[in-house]
Amino acid sequence: QQPVLSDLFGRFHNYLRISVTERCNLRCQYCMPEEGIDLTDGDKLMTTPEILRIARIFVTQGVDKIRLTGGEPTVRKDIVELIRGLNELRPLGLRKIAITTNGIALRRKLPALREAGLDGLNISLDTRDPRKFELFTRRKGGTHVLQAISEAAKLDFDFVKVNVVVMRGMNEDEVPAFVEMTHDEGIDVRFIEYMPFDGNKWGQKKLVGYRDMLLNLHAIYGDAIERLPLEKNHTAKSYRIRGYQGQFGFITSMTNSFCSACNRVRVMADGNLKVCLFGNTEVSLMELLRNGASDADITETIGGAIKRKHRAHAGLDILSQLPNRPMIKIGG
Ligand code: GTP
Ligand code: 5AD
Ligand code: SF4
Repeated sequence: QQPVLSDLFGRFHNYLRISVTERCNLRCQYCMPEEGIDLTDGDKLMTTPEILRIARIFVTQGVDKIRLTGGEPTVRKDIVELIRGLNELRPLGLRKIAITTNGIALRRKLPALREAGLDGLNISLDTRDPRKFELFTRRKGGTHVLQAISEAAKLDFDFVKVNVVVMRGMNEDEVPAFVEMTHDEGIDVRFIEYMPFDGNKWGQKKLVGYRDMLLNLHAIYGDAIERLPLEKNHTAKSYRIRGYQGQFGFITSMTNSFCSACNRVRVMADGNLKVCLFGNTEVSLMELLRNGASDADITETIGGAIKRKHRAHAGLDILSQLPNRPMIKIGG
């Protein structure tokens, strides 16, 4: 019998992303519409015991990495307790606990998060310029994020990655400055191709493909750019400037998708399971949770959804026409 977390294309899904809130303290233009989104009623969002139960079921089936996302995960009041709860799943096979955060309210929480069992962080920052930060996020706070990144790099996390969504006319000129951040600190910077989601006004003209970024970097660094081997379930193609401590990479969902290596499934704050970032079929685990379903029932539903996962997303030309959620309700 096929493992529950295997799909029909030979992919085993050992990486679970859980969105723990729909709320955010920023308003990034590529993530949500200016007017905001309709938030799900509070009583229809997963409680901490519900999140931990779902997590345990997935870990029992072979998930060994869990990433918490949002919205902004640090706005959830009990984020530290949640990490602590996940940490207790290690004897069942969980090995990595990570979070993707905008870093705005992160700095003071770092020691507690580390102590609770967090292994690493991906911190989003699209510009190093505080004024441009306001254009991207419709809020102030760029310097807080830079401080949180430096602070995180000093603590003994296994990894600190910086996520930069690159948009034409906005920040492609800052790519080299971000690469320079990998000089002294062991951080990993990833440049992300801008992706379409509901309400984010995506257009191909705003997309900067990774080949363009790489060409520009070659003009600056020449042969000092080293290509690193692809990791097993990579989202990023990785590089290093010879002699630099950290590395950089490109997440090329649009111009060179990596679906054949996909090992990810998502549970969103409302308890829906989404087997592909760009898939619009979802199943409600919440309904099961709240109707007294057994672990075996929930496991069966998860297995069924994964067996319906497509081989790959629909491609650059079509994706923006397909309905999906706004990114803020998926968590990346
Ligand atoms: P690692 O776990 O450190 O490899 O991080 P990650 O790249 O999987 O996650 P992160 O939350 O840092 O997301 C970085 C970017 O990758 C975001 O733009 C995500 O939307 C995108 N991303 C994450 N997972 C997938 C995926 O399965 N498919 C696609 N197409 N993009 C993804
Ligand atoms: N395209 C690419 N990346 C995005 N992110 C949010 N919206 C988009 C988008 N439209 C990134 C965030 C964060 C990660 C979870 O996804 O910046 O780093
Ligand atoms: Fe996986 Fe879907 Fe992302 Fe492709 S688009 S890598 S199948 S989540």
